[in-house]
Amino acid sequence: MFITFEGGEGTGKTTLIENIYEQLKKTHHVIKTREPGGSMIAEAIRDVILNPKYKGVTPYTEALLLAASRAQHLDEVILPGLKQDAIVLCDRYIDSSLAYQGYARKLGFEFVLSINYYATLNMPDLTFYIDLDPEIGMSRIEGRTKYDRLDQESKNFHQEVRKGYLEILDKYPKRIVKINGNQSIEEISSEIMSIIKEKL
Ligand code: TYD
Repeated sequence: MFITFEGGEGTGKTTLIENIYEQLKKTHHVIKTREPGGSMIAEAIRDVILNPKYKGVTPYTEALLLAASRAQHLDEVILPGLKQDAIVLCDRYIDSSLAYQGYARKLGFEFVLSINYYATLNMPDLTFYIDLDPEIGMSRIEGRTKYDRLDQESKNFHQEVRKGYLEILDKYPKRIVKINGNQSIEEISSEIMSIIKEKL
């Protein structure tokens, strides 16, 4: 089973996935991974995408680099994991590209889907979208000492990302479950765990 987690900045996704991973691994073979990155080569591409020193990365290049890192990650981590019957938990996947590059960067869903053709052949079985007002999300990450190139985008950009996710949710209502990000991590984890258990 391939499960992805999506949302804007400061939704607590990382802690949440760690919680879910700890619970599931008691009874199942589970692989926890993330995008962009998740394998050595994909992490090297991640650095080019997110390092603020590469300010000149254009929207098309950004989308293509994300698709390239995804292709490498699929072959090195996700597909081998699924082949071994593992539950693969992935922090972000193609929906991030649809929301950030397709919608907020205005490249369009069709373009993003076309360059991610390989990922479209390997779509998640289940996706949790943690919905939170970016005002709240961004205020949660305010104390961070390191901001990546995308964290540094404007408030308006992050509002657009959220609108993008809400459109994607309409496009894939069966696959994507919307979760209210205003709850505690414990509440969100137990909501997600009960949905996963139902599907397993
Ligand atoms: P990360 O620090 O992993 O973000 P978070 O903790 O918020 O999940 O950084 C990933 C950043 O890359 C995040 O701002 C979203 C962005 N991103 C895209 O724009 N498109 C994509 O396809 C992916 C996977 C990530």
